[in-house]
Amino acid sequence: MYNFDAVIIGGGLAGLRAAYELVNNKIKTALISKVYPIRSHSNAAQGGVNAALGNIEKGLPDNWEKHAYDTIKGSDYIGDQDAIMKMCKEAPYRIYEIEHWGCPFSRTDEGRIAQRPFGGSGFPRTAYATDRTGHAMLHTLYEQIMRKNEKNKYLTFFDEWFVTKLIVKDKSVKGIIALDLKTGDLHPFRTDAAIVATGGVGRIYSKSTNALINTGKGLAIAYRAGADLKDMEFIQFHPTTLYGTNILVTEGARGEGAYLLNNIGERFLKNYEDSKRAMEIAPRDIVARNMIREIKKGNAVNNLYLHLDLRRLGEKLISKRLPGVIELARKFAGINAITEPIPVEPAQHYTMGGIDVDINCRTKIDGLYAAGEAACVSVHGANRLGGNSLLETIVFGCIAGEAAGEYLSKIKKKNERMYLMESALREEKKGIEDLYKREGNESSFKLFEEMSIAMWNNIGIFRNEVQLKEGLENLKRIKERCNNVGIRYKGKRFNFELYWLLELIGSIDIAEAVIMGAIERKESRGSHYRTDYPKRDDENYLKHTIATYSPEGAKLSYKPVTLGYVVPAESYFISRRILTPLLPSGSPAAALCAAPAPCILMENTALPVRHRF
Ligand code: FUM
Repeated sequence: MYNFDAVIIGGGLAGLRAAYELVNNKIKTALISKVYPIRSHSNAAQGGVNAALGNIEKGLPDNWEKHAYDTIKGSDYIGDQDAIMKMCKEAPYRIYEIEHWGCPFSRTDEGRIAQRPFGGSGFPRTAYATDRTGHAMLHTLYEQIMRKNEKNKYLTFFDEWFVTKLIVKDKSVKGIIALDLKTGDLHPFRTDAAIVATGGVGRIYSKSTNALINTGKGLAIAYRAGADLKDMEFIQFHPTTLYGTNILVTEGARGEGAYLLNNIGERFLKNYEDSKRAMEIAPRDIVARNMIREIKKGNAVNNLYLHLDLRRLGEKLISKRLPGVIELARKFAGINAITEPIPVEPAQHYTMGGIDVDINCRTKIDGLYAAGEAACVSVHGANRLGGNSLLETIVFGCIAGEAAGEYLSKIKKKNERMYLMESALREEKKGIEDLYKREGNESSFKLFEEMSIAMWNNIGIFRNEVQLKEGLENLKRIKERCNNVGIRYKGKRFNFELYWLLELIGSIDIAEAVIMGAIERKESRGSHYRTDYPKRDDENYLKHTIATYSPEGAKLSYKPVTLGYVVPAESYFISRRILTPLLPSGSPAAALCAAPAPCILMENTALPVRHRF
């Protein structure tokens, strides 16, 4: 039996940032990852990370309140405003922190961190490391943790391990059970705190930019252990993914000035009311919907896709700022992006919902925390702004680590629970042995594929009651058929038939919460677009959807959104207002605004030319 003070599930940016905090505080921590941490999906984040650094002049200076304002507006007013303000206020500090740790951000001519425009932002606010920002940040953080751990060895990595169960008793975390994929053995971990940082659930959709590991398993184990899920119906679709493979083609390309074109080479976004002003850098939900509308009108190239045209940017700029786009277009589509337009289509990209946590990443279970895309704090509401995802990982990863550390310092630790752990292990072993014995003729791979196609067809960019209910029925049938999945390969080492069956069971729970939330939200807001209810309805739906697990299916309830900073406006394009006077004095939001910045910001040091990326 393993014994740790804290266990982190997931080795991407949020998990690593939490780990840094725990290790720094000398807390004995295990980090369990299905893959190797530096192969986590954070690696795939391309375009950048938002913070109001104000490094690019654009009329008035940028500041964190403007960042918060854009984020609230982008969330279609369902993001919690206190959480958004906290994130935006802390953003510059976290960026300078990781920069000082060695993250190779791209530079302005003066040597400052370069920033590019991204959708829905009033300023060029997205800091970037060419178009490999997630990769640069992940490796920087991993190196820092390795450096720290070299001395104190408080952190143990369990790479290619898969958590199957979270053990909760008396509403507090007691441990987890994990499967070592290399040996096929189950192991109990005794712990008082667990942080879920497993990323999003993108793979429940057949067309997704997400890595194959993003199945939602982390959410599913927390959900079955009694944590709630929040706002699962809000699924983001990214406008520009490579046609066919759905590999992300960064919004950074449009931020730099690339055009979206139809089959006659027209910038069709000008023909739609909600995108005619911001065009290619309108918020993602709007651009994705208008692309689908354009395709449905018959204006797709070869009747299949639209074009993302970078050619006007010129070879020098493309090679300097978007080398990853050149590489992926060449390798996966045989296209030279400098001289040819790239075929693109929208696909699932991000999960705005997640494990319901408060502003300090706490769930309703003592000792259970969540951070990053797996969590719903909620800072993205109904539609995340590009660049706010990487930001969320480093801000709330840190907060989750701090909160878990504080919790551990207060509770009476190491209470004996041998019996509990042993019986949980016995039960889990028995469950897995029963799965091995199954001789049914269904395949978990095939059912996973069917589920993801049904999700794409029925709970996609446009939704309506009939489609959603049909989607739920499909899902129920797939769930039934899971009982008839046979495991033909009986070996224990890397048994992917078993692994995908365990994934499938978790993903179905999550998919069900997505559909049920979508059925009950009879309005359109952000990424959730109901053709039968095309308007936002603040009177009835300015609230969070909460899904609680039950064996019969998700039980839904609602809770209020934290407002207090920006008054919800009808249209996305309301004029910019001075915000602070809107704050009711004495409100928590006003207090947060008045509080000093979390730390004194380090100087935005201008690096010598040789350090420019
Ligand atoms: O398009 C992109 O580079 C994606 C960024 C994001 O989702 O934040």
